[in-house]
Amino acid sequence: MSKQRVLSGMRPTGRLHIGHYHGALKNWVRLQDEMACFFFVADWHALTTAYDDVQVIENSVWDMVIDWLAAGVDPEKATVFIQSRLPQHAELHVLLSMMTPLGWLERVPTYKDQQEKLSGKDLATYGFLGYPLLQSADILLYQANHVPVGEDQVPHIEFTREVARRFNHLFGREPGFEDKAKAALKKLGGKRDKLYLELRTRYQQEGDKEALAQGRALIAESQSLANADRERLYGYFDGSGKQILTEPGALLTEASRVVGLDGQKMSKSYGNTIMMREEPEALAKKIKTMPTDTNRVRRTDPGDPARCPVWNFHQVYSSPETREWVQAGCRSAGIGCIECKQPVIDAMVAEQAPMHERAMKYVQNPKLVREVVEHGNERARKVAEETMQDVRAAMGLAYS
Ligand code: TRP
Ligand code: SF4
Repeated sequence: MSKQRVLSGMRPTGRLHIGHYHGALKNWVRLQDEMACFFFVADWHALTTAYDDVQVIENSVWDMVIDWLAAGVDPEKATVFIQSRLPQHAELHVLLSMMTPLGWLERVPTYKDQQEKLSGKDLATYGFLGYPLLQSADILLYQANHVPVGEDQVPHIEFTREVARRFNHLFGREPGFEDKAKAALKKLGGKRDKLYLELRTRYQQEGDKEALAQGRALIAESQSLANADRERLYGYFDGSGKQILTEPGALLTEASRVVGLDGQKMSKSYGNTIMMREEPEALAKKIKTMPTDTNRVRRTDPGDPARCPVWNFHQVYSSPETREWVQAGCRSAGIGCIECKQPVIDAMVAEQAPMHERAMKYVQNPKLVREVVEHGNERARKVAEETMQDVRAAMGLAYS
């Protein structure tokens, strides 16, 4: 069975901070060993909100890719590319737009939320309304099975599933589909065609999800099938026809527990970040000057870690023993805040050392980053183009 596919993207909006690392990149690095991963720079998505400040995008793209590589994304394992270098993303977006009901887009919660949040900017644009559909195109182009995202993005993945389903329903019926599916069924061999039909009935008549899962596994496991036949059997099973686009699932990344220097969400706009690649001295200074429990005015005043943003960092970076030492020492005024901060500084510096090291060759030789992405673009293009050929054919656009 071929490897499951993973796709995820980030908008280039500046250098990445440790919230990005703990919230997303660490997970990407883990996934690249298990599945076929596609990670891309969503520069068009960045344009939907930064259309009046395009310089930011241009300045951020390469730094962001270097941050990915610094985190341990390995271009030998994962495909790293840039959205705008593959016009297939735009092509699929426009084709999907023909069949996507306007109401679906208007109802995506981020549409209104973001407009309210970024009220200083006119986001009543065509591009911004289409943001989730462009994201669907990103995902469906690579037939991704899994999309690692934070909770805020889950509605976009659900939306993508609906778009894929609608597309398959509208365009997935090839002439003679039933006969072809039945012929494919014979090729399953053994008694598996009988089992398939039983499971199919259970799913179609009773909506039995377990039967659906078993049916899918049965099809996936049968080695004797050609790809087209396998897809027909998937489609015949759930009544959707030939499956042209794969319905993805969200791989929910646990929300990053890293908060900012001031205890709020870590974000560039709050000025409370620690970058992934800080100079050790600058990093130490940021921690040393960060606020602590405001009740600890003097060294002799006892404190409460629950009221202190430094404690948040201990929860991410410190061992149980160190955390115990903080709890006891803070509450009894047995330790001072400077003392308490040192293990955090040490752990952060240690975490970033290999990042600096991995980034160094790219920083010193920017041509190398360009090459990584060039290579990734080519790999991505092959996969994207395969999907587009099916899509064009299904939509009656493959004239010769
Ligand atoms: N919308 C995503 C974000 O803001 C970025 C993104 C664009 C994305 N296309 C994607 C994420 C496709 C996952 C898959 O974080
Ligand atoms: Fe915060 Fe540590 Fe100071 Fe307590 S001792 S207030 S946890 S920095």
